[in-house]
Amino acid sequence: MKTAVVYYSCDGNCALVAEQIKALLNADLIRLQTKNEKKRSGFAKYFWGGSQVVMHKKPALKPYVFDAAAYDLIIIGAPVWAASPAPPLETFLSETKISGKKLALFLCHAGGKGKAMDKLKLLLAGNTVATETDFVNPAGDIQELKRKIEEWLKPLGA
Ligand SMILES: Cc1cc2nc3c(=O)[nH]c(=O)nc-3n(C[C@H](O)[C@H](O)[C@H](O)COP(=O)(O)O)c2cc1C
Repeated sequence: MKTAVVYYSCDGNCALVAEQIKALLNADLIRLQTKNEKKRSGFAKYFWGGSQVVMHKKPALKPYVFDAAAYDLIIIGAPVWAASPAPPLETFLSETKISGKKLALFLCHAGGKGKAMDKLKLLLAGNTVATETDFVNPAGDIQELKRKIEEWLKPLGA
């Protein structure tokens, strides 16, 4: 099964999950990055990110290569920002058509995902979500992360 993981990660949590999936499934990784991926920290990071969500912004992305037709399974991951999938992921989905595909979805958050998964699924209407999960800042315990990823991907027979 040819698998891609398309993800955005600001602080490294979704990137860590993506790397673990790559190790497990030999998946291709497509890491989305905003054009002005400045290293913001503290208040500036939350202010910028939160305002992107509130103002329904779609921040421009650096060029990436992704052909949905080349994959049997597409795994999509994003951090939760203000109870929504981070806007860079929305940019990607607004400019790259994915339809009729088998998907697995994940979110990373700090304990308050709100309706972010429902919002992500709405952006991906027209596909089949085979399995979904979320991780609370998963960097602390890699063994637990691996276990959770395997459990999440079990419905795929992976
Ligand atoms: C702008 C911004 C908004 C956030 N909003 C939320 C939120 O609404 N709920 C939550 O649980 N965590 C929130 N977080 C925390 C991140 O979702 C969490 O740290 C996640 O693991 C980050 O993933 P990443 O390291 O791949 O960027 C927010 C973080 C940022 C930067």
